[in-house]
Amino acid sequence: MRTITTVTELRHALALQREQGKSIGFVPTMGALHEGHLSLVRMSKQHTDVTVVSIFVNPTQFGPSEDFEKYPRTMEADASLLVEEEVEFLFAPSVQQIYPAAHDTRIHLDAITNLYEGARRPGHFDGVATVVSILFNIVQPQAGYFGQKDAQQLAVIRKLVADLAFPIEIIAGSTIREKDGLALSSRNRYLNADDRKEAVALSKTLFFMRDSLRDRQDVASAKAAGTHEFHRIAPNGLLDYLDIVNSETFQPISSFESTGLCTIIIAANIGATRLIDNIPI
Ligand code: PAF
Repeated sequence: MRTITTVTELRHALALQREQGKSIGFVPTMGALHEGHLSLVRMSKQHTDVTVVSIFVNPTQFGPSEDFEKYPRTMEADASLLVEEEVEFLFAPSVQQIYPAAHDTRIHLDAITNLYEGARRPGHFDGVATVVSILFNIVQPQAGYFGQKDAQQLAVIRKLVADLAFPIEIIAGSTIREKDGLALSSRNRYLNADDRKEAVALSKTLFFMRDSLRDRQDVASAKAAGTHEFHRIAPNGLLDYLDIVNSETFQPISSFESTGLCTIIIAANIGATRLIDNIPI
């Protein structure tokens, strides 16, 4: 694996690959890699000739009171995992490389970022859309791989790519879960032992709701029953939202009759940690 830290060097290295007719797969990450990231890397390795993984803790997607400073940075361990996966290129730029001093552009998506994570974390998706656009322009991959775990982010990226005509296929990787159902996330490492027991309430609530909906309960009753289930499993947890949305637009749905693909989404504070999860239905 070749580790590259500058935009110029990466552009040059990838131009050489393209000249040889190689296709490029791209897995953008903020590091603290886990099986969820590695499953995306494996998909990219399977579909394309050359895989680029970026590790960049993007400051513009964190709010002023969020965890940018304490976000886990585990570059050495991450690099070893990527070597094991036989990744060709690790791109680990500095903030200066991505946002040179005069940087003055932000990308904003409207309706799709109005609710849920977008509403709770103002500016978050502007930061994501901006950095992903910059990275796409640097790497120019054929395919970009994103986790279903961050379902609203995935919807935002798909919309960004469609609206700005990026010639890139967006491929989603399924959420990888612990045995008890907890979705893997770099932020799980913030959970203490008590939090960890309650954290399972997110996935258990989603599975419970999926089953309720299979029994043809209406959306409102499924949400009420799901809320009750969450508090039963996590009496100390703070449920932020639990909803059923159109997977593409991320607008809430109130009935199943006229909708296409839907996703049940949940966010909660467990101890001091904010967790999100979802399941498409
Ligand atoms: O999902 C993430 O890790 C980040 O939001 C991403 C897509 C790498 C952009 O910084």
